[in-house]
Amino acid sequence: MPKKILIISSSPRRGGNSDLLADEFMRGAQDSGHNVEKIFLKDKKVNYCSGCGVCYDTKKCVQKDDVSEILEKIATSDVIVLATPVYFYTMSAQLKTLIDRCCPRYEEFSNKEFYFILTAADEDKAMLERTAESLRGFTACLDNPVEKGVLYATGVWKPAEVKDTKFMRQAYELGKNS
Ligand SMILES: Cc1cc2nc3c(=O)[nH]c(=O)nc-3n(C[C@H](O)[C@H](O)[C@H](O)COP(=O)(O)O)c2cc1C
Repeated sequence: MPKKILIISSSPRRGGNSDLLADEFMRGAQDSGHNVEKIFLKDKKVNYCSGCGVCYDTKKCVQKDDVSEILEKIATSDVIVLATPVYFYTMSAQLKTLIDRCCPRYEEFSNKEFYFILTAADEDKAMLERTAESLRGFTACLDNPVEKGVLYATGVWKPAEVKDTKFMRQAYELGKNS
């Protein structure tokens, strides 16, 4: 059965390594007949969570930006793909900023499947585990998240360097089998 898949590409570099892998995942998922949408997060206006706490009661954020539209897409998707460059061994600030803004609706994000796409200059996959763990800090707050796959794209530093690597195929296959 076709799934609804939302890819959140969070690098500030359009066409950079994680964004290219996100596109490959999308291509694979589309080839399997899924309904896929990709958000390039930098195109969206995402303010910081102010921690005001209003949403604890209202389940709505007082801020007016693009986040409510993104949260609606997350809530209505079966599969969420989080693509991020590794920045100082954690996720991009863009992605963390969005995750913090999930407060009003994260309790609705139940039974979703997750994929993580991580890109880093480091050659050592083990060094990227900390970044995967930082993403698990988000999914651990959700009801019955299913982590379906993590792509650790190591040894890629310059923009688009990932194009000549095995990781492109791996991203496609992850999407194809999603
Ligand atoms: C601010 C910044 C911090 C980075 N920190 C790390 C790091 O901690 N470890 C690492 O291996 N690579 C680090 N890198 C390299 C990126 O992870 C690498 O270039 C990655 O391929 C970028 O993905 P992108 O093209 O999708 O943005 C850093 C790059 C920048 C710009």
